[in-house]
This record gives sequence, C-alpha cells and structure tokens, in this order.
Amino acid sequence: MIIAVDGPAASGKGTLAAGLARHYGLPHLDTGLLYRAVGWAVRDLGDGPEFEARAIVAARALDAGHLKDIETLTSAEAGVFASRVAVIAEVRLAMRQYQRDFAHQPGGAVLDGRDIGTVVCPDADAKLFIVADSKARMERRARQLEARGQVVDRYALYHQIEERDARDMANPHGGFYQAEDAHLLDTTRLDIEAALRAAVAIVDEAVARKAEL
Ligand code: C5P
Repeated sequence: MIIAVDGPAASGKGTLAAGLARHYGLPHLDTGLLYRAVGWAVRDLGDGPEFEARAIVAARALDAGHLKDIETLTSAEAGVFASRVAVIAEVRLAMRQYQRDFAHQPGGAVLDGRDIGTVVCPDADAKLFIVADSKARMERRARQLEARGQVVDRYALYHQIEERDARDMANPHGGFYQAEDAHLLDTTRLDIEAALRAAVAIVDEAVARKAEL
C-alpha cells in the first residue's frame, strides 16, 4: 500500500505521515529532507549557474547517508535552502526515482511532501492533502524549535513560512497542488491524536473503495 501525504510547511503532514506509517507498519520517507539535504550541500554558493549545477550534482549523488543530520536539516535555514533548490527541474527529476523506488518497495510505504500525490506517486492507494491556517502552522513550528532550545522570533517565522509557501506554490516544476483524488484534511483545530484518527479513517475508506472497484 502506498500512502501519499502532501501539504504546506508545518501543516502537520510529517507527524501524520509518521503516525500512519506506525499504524500500518510501513516505512516512511519525509521527502522534504531530500530537498533540505541538497539545499544544505550548496548553502555556501550564491545565486547563479554554479548554484544550480552543484545542486544538480548533489541531487544525483543523494543517498540515505545524507539524511542523517536531522537537527541541521530540519532547521528553518535549511528549509529556505530547500525551497531554493526545489525550483530546479533537474534536481526534482534526479530525486524522483529515489522517491519512487522507496514507494514501490515490497509492501509499500508512506511518503510525505508537496508533489507525492500529483507527480511522484500518482498511483498511490490513498492520498491526503493536509492544510492548517498560517498562524496555527507558525505556532506549531515555533514550539518545535523552542523544544529544541532555539529562540524563536514568531513574526519572522510567520513571514518565512508564508514566503516559502508562496515560492513552493509558484514553482513551475513543483506539482504542489491537491490531486483530484486526494482527500483534504484541515488540522487547524485538531490535536495530533484527532488528526491521526481522521487520517486513518480516510486511508481505510480509500483502500476499501479501491478494493470494491
Ligand atoms: O516539507 P519540508 O518543509 O521539509 O520541505 C522543505 C522544502 O522542500 C519545501 O519548502 C519545498 O520547497 C521542498 N519540497 C518539494 N517537494 C517535496 C518536498 C519538499 O519541493 N516533495
């Protein structure tokens, strides 16, 4: 079974995808980490052709070993570099096969990102599109960062999330939109347990419906 979980920054998609993976006993890939790893690898290069060329090389060389420094990769700064490399078509292409191979391993997998239901796994058995309003997303991300001991400027964080969303949605190579057959789940007023219950209900129903066809 392949489960695709897409949505904007800090919508709760990562937590839900991990919860779904536990629930169904499936492996989970946070595809944002791939873009973060590539962005982080070229963070010292300014704009221009070298940035792009080196990002493409980094994307082609990417493997699980590059995804280990979770603390660095999940920082707000790495998120900004991730969205800069995510607009490069060849970077996306290089990482597509990695994601598809992960999805199509025996038994299937849960993948979360922006374009899983639209581009990476259009054939997924269940697709969820997770949303939450911008303030709720900012507050969640702020608490995550504070729990790690970081000092958070909420105003700056809010604008950073909005800016990243705008760039992701305008990405001509991004495929970041709700797939026609994806189920919308708004987590603004849901705690983690309630959101996971809702997500499991959506997946169970999608799988049951597919079995009927
Ligand atoms: O999901 P996360 O916030 O970790 O993603 C970081 C960035 O990576 C996103 O803002 C987006 O630019 C990019 N991304 C993407 N496609 C994905 C996953 C992430 O373009 N499937």
